[in-house]
Formats: sequence, structure tokens, C-alpha cells
Amino acid sequence: MIDSNCNSIPALRGPVPLSHLFLHTFVRDGHTVIDATCGNGHDTLLLARLVGTRGHVWGFDIQQQAIVETGRKLAEAELAKRVTLLPVGHEELATHVPGSVQVVLFNLGYRPGGDRSVITRPDTTARALEQSLDLLAAGGIVLVTVYPGHSGGADEQSTVENWAAELDPRAWHCWRMGQTNVSQAAPYLLLVQKVL
Ligand SMILES: C[S@@+](CC[C@H](N)C(=O)[O-])C[C@H]1O[C@@H](n2cnc3c(N)ncnc32)[C@H](O)[C@@H]1O
Repeated sequence: MIDSNCNSIPALRGPVPLSHLFLHTFVRDGHTVIDATCGNGHDTLLLARLVGTRGHVWGFDIQQQAIVETGRKLAEAELAKRVTLLPVGHEELATHVPGSVQVVLFNLGYRPGGDRSVITRPDTTARALEQSLDLLAAGGIVLVTVYPGHSGGADEQSTVENWAAELDPRAWHCWRMGQTNVSQAAPYLLLVQKVL
């Protein structure tokens, strides 16, 4: 994990710290961003720091416990005012978020330490990804941490991969980033940038 001021050297073990590097680069003071899978709130907290006092974070999760835990972390850091937490699925994000956003962040799979049967699903993930593109500002990014290893993960992986592979390269820059010296089933990062 890297700190919000980028003062420490990040340990790039797995896709999450890599996604945080991108967040530090793309999220500026005053930006509006989305955390599409709040989980335990680590990513939401970083986003809340990065958007500053003038920005805003929209956070989604279908698990009440995830919303509570994320809210608790934000309150502890005195950042709750910067975030709207919604206990609804990210497949409804377009109906809740007004205007354009700089980043939409997905960390797929199940909530660590929580109910492992509550996972992101290919059909709802696909709908949320599609809506994310509609909301993105020019130069903005969608970041997806993909977990092929758990039950149902491979199906979701192919949905996300097929979606990204079919995006028009004149309109979207699509990247896949994974460690080469780990198992094929290890999580990795997908990035889609709307052209500037
Ligand atoms: C890997 S966790 C997210 C980790 C989180 N970003 C963090 O920093 O702790 C995945 C989360 O996605 C949530 N989830 C599953 N389906 C969802 C949906 N349709 N909409 C929003 N969240 C969903 C799960 O409840 C779970 O909390």
C-alpha cells in the first residue's frame, strides 16, 4: 500500500498497488471519481484523499457490511463528506452519478474477510463497465482488478477481456498489466483510457 502523498516507495506485489499508482497520476484535486466496489474501503479512502476538498467520490457496494466498513474508515479519517456511499449495485451507476468522471475503479471478486459467496458477476460487471465508458471525461480511465482464480472468476475474466478487446482503438486505449512470474490465475490489472 502506498501513502496518499506518494512519499514511500510502492511495493508492486499484485495489481492493487499498481492501480494505486495510476490513481495518483490520474486523480487531481476537484475531480469526481467512482469506486464501483467499495469492499473494505481501502480504495475509497485513497480516492477520497486524492480528490481533495473540492472533489467527490461515488462509492457502490451491494453488501451493507462493505458500506458500513467503508463509512467507518472515512469517518475515522474525517473524509466522509467527500464521499457518497450507495448500497446498490454498480450496474445502476449511471442512474446515480451526474456528469462526467475522471476514474471508475473496479476491484472484482469477493470482499476479503467477508462472505465469499457474494462476488461480482459477469452480467452486472459488463453493464457497469459499459455505463462507465459513457461517464468518462476525455483522458479519464476505467481500472479493473480482475481475479480469475476464484469460482466464477474465469467467466468474469472472459467477459471483461472480450469487452476491452472489442473497444475501438481510435476511441479507447486498452491495457492489460499482470506479473509474468506468477500463476496464470493470479489477479491482474486492466486499464481503459478514453482518448484525449
Ligand atoms: C474485492 S472486493 C473490493 C475491495 C475494495 N475495493 C477494498 O479496497 O477493500 C469486491 C466487492 O465488490 C462487491 N460487489 C459485488 N457485486 C457488486 C455489484 N454488483 N455492485 C457493487 N459492488 C459489488 C462485493 O460486495 C465486494 O465487497
